[in-house]
Amino acid sequence: MYFLIEIDAKNNCCVIYKLLFALKPAFLRDTLILMGLYEKFLLPKLVHFTCGQSPNMRQREKVVPLANGRVLEIGIGSGLNIPFYDVRNVKHLWGLDPSAEMWSIARNNAADHHMDVEFLLSDAESIPLDNNSADTVLITYTMCTIGEVHSALDEIRRVLKPGGRLIFCEHGAAPDKHVLRWQNRINPIWRKLAGGCNLNRPVPLLLERSGFKSTDMQTMYLPGWKPATFNYWGTARY
Ligand SMILES: C[S@@+](CC[C@H](N)C(=O)[O-])C[C@H]1O[C@@H](n2cnc3c(N)ncnc32)[C@H](O)[C@@H]1O
Repeated sequence: MYFLIEIDAKNNCCVIYKLLFALKPAFLRDTLILMGLYEKFLLPKLVHFTCGQSPNMRQREKVVPLANGRVLEIGIGSGLNIPFYDVRNVKHLWGLDPSAEMWSIARNNAADHHMDVEFLLSDAESIPLDNNSADTVLITYTMCTIGEVHSALDEIRRVLKPGGRLIFCEHGAAPDKHVLRWQNRINPIWRKLAGGCNLNRPVPLLLERSGFKSTDMQTMYLPGWKPATFNYWGTARY
């Protein structure tokens, strides 16, 4: 306290600087601890809850049954797609995700649905599979979160057999200018609170840039908050 009063007599700017300097280490440490706890314990449950809302579940029903053969699911998360696989057509299922916390929820989901899943604890930017090993790659509500999404799409191309299909269902950049403006404005804060999720990724452009072509892509707003609900879904090949 004495330190602050003494400096105040000289120069206000100096007080602010010294005050911030004094608070910084403890403030940073506490924030990091809180963010770590939030990401470890609360976020997986929040993601499971929000991604499990009925409009999203109806979207899953449209795309997941199309998966066939040796299937790689990118960002399997809490395993919300598991009940929708057509087990008669799936020879093998790899579920890739870098989050052990999400995995532990997915494991229970897989057990409940008697689904055999080989979990791969990894980022999509470096998929631990050989070239041409999957007939289908499925990705739902995950392109928004992947850090290096171009590298991930290159990796998906590498592991996908020629003629294989990328099945996707993603939220992303809205076509309406005023919604997109809000998406761009909110995105920096949203990304921090929502585990790295971006509201404004241009899904068709990302696919195109990585050499994927989709002839059946559909789009619409799901019910709910417009900046987070514009959906793109369909299949793509390279
Ligand atoms: C919003 S959740 C969606 C989960 C699931 N796909 C679904 O549809 O419910 C995003 C998932 O992407 C995962 N993820 C984050 N970064 C990733 C990366 N670099 N590569 C692969 N998955 C990633 C997260 O751990 C999380 O499980």
